Amino acid sequence: MINKYYDKIQVVEFDLTSTCQAYCASCSRYVIEDGAVKLNPYVKFNNQVSIDAIANIFSSELIVENVGVSMVGSIGDPLAHTDIVGVLETIFKHKPKARVVMHTNGGLGHPDTYRKIAQIEGTIKLYFSIDGLADTNHLYRDSVVWERIEQNVQAFIQAGGTARWKYIVFDWNKHQVEAARQLSQQWGFQKFETIKDRSRGEERDEWNSVKHNIKKKEFGRLKNEEFRIASEKKASWDLPDTTECIGNQVVYINPQEMVVPCCKWATGFNWFEHRSEMIEFMYTDNEQDWNSLKHNSFNDILHNKFWDKLGDSLQLSTTSCTRCLTQCSRVSG
Ligand SMILES: C[S@@+](CC[C@H](N)C(=O)[O-])C[C@H]1O[C@@H](n2cnc3c(N)ncnc32)[C@H](O)[C@@H]1O
Ligand code: SF4
Ligand code: SF4
Repeated sequence: MINKYYDKIQVVEFDLTSTCQAYCASCSRYVIEDGAVKLNPYVKFNNQVSIDAIANIFSSELIVENVGVSMVGSIGDPLAHTDIVGVLETIFKHKPKARVVMHTNGGLGHPDTYRKIAQIEGTIKLYFSIDGLADTNHLYRDSVVWERIEQNVQAFIQAGGTARWKYIVFDWNKHQVEAARQLSQQWGFQKFETIKDRSRGEERDEWNSVKHNIKKKEFGRLKNEEFRIASEKKASWDLPDTTECIGNQVVYINPQEMVVPCCKWATGFNWFEHRSEMIEFMYTDNEQDWNSLKHNSFNDILHNKFWDKLGDSLQLSTTSCTRCLTQCSRVSG
């Protein structure tokens, strides 16, 4: 056992970068304020996980040999990494049986990079998030250039890469789903799938009305508010379902090279509601940089007392963090 709750790490998830050229208005990179899309003031932009940190993680014997590696992210695109080929080569150098999944908007980087990724020895599935065709993709994927997608997809597939097309269905592209499916076959995608837009109705209407008013370098305002559930109220909540963290033996790495339990914790740091409670939970009675790969080995981080504290806290709804309760349990009281 690594600690009381983790035996061996089965999945390592990443926000590999906090960089992206696109302005998808409902992405966590952005906030809507005063009728405009602005930069999320809680996101630390233009960070990336270094090759040293990747080696630090994947050389660890605490990770299984056929580890699942997910490079989806919430505030950046993995193809924005300045040495994405080096990242992947380092993973497979230490864990040749790793299974890597990446998601990209497809417009970043050059065909040569996609060719090199396709030729790396190791299992890689690359999802292209393309929400429409030449005349509609940019309606959500603002600033993604269609011609770049075409070049990158074709370079990747022709070099032998496994590509999947993920299509978010919106009102303005629903009539093109079948045409896109056919194009995916023509281009040689292994799979085509549609998913639902997950932004809520009112958010969707809001970003729809402001998405052409993008203040590219303006940050939104910081808020002091916090949403913390009172202990008496916590007692009426179900226990958090821990299948995504302890159940699946997952850890998550953010672009500042911090190890956190899951994507929900990682995204929690990018919003005002749960930040202070999470920071308090993570750093009270602990070293300031205990979970930073810039200061510690992955092994030392996984042996830190935090993981027992997290697992113990999830045994009772009254001791669970608001983040865990709101993300992973259903209200029962
Ligand atoms: C934040 S993105 C980061 C990865 C990459 N930049 C991309 O867009 O594919 C993570 C995932 O969220 C998905 N996503 C973005 N906006 C969405 C929306 N409104 N509804 C559902 N999924 C969305 C993307 O397609 C992607 O698979
Ligand atoms: S491409 Fe991905 S990371 Fe970039 S803005 Fe869109 S959803 Fe966010
Ligand atoms: S939010 Fe909490 S309970 Fe849910 S997966 Fe993350 S750490 Fe586990």
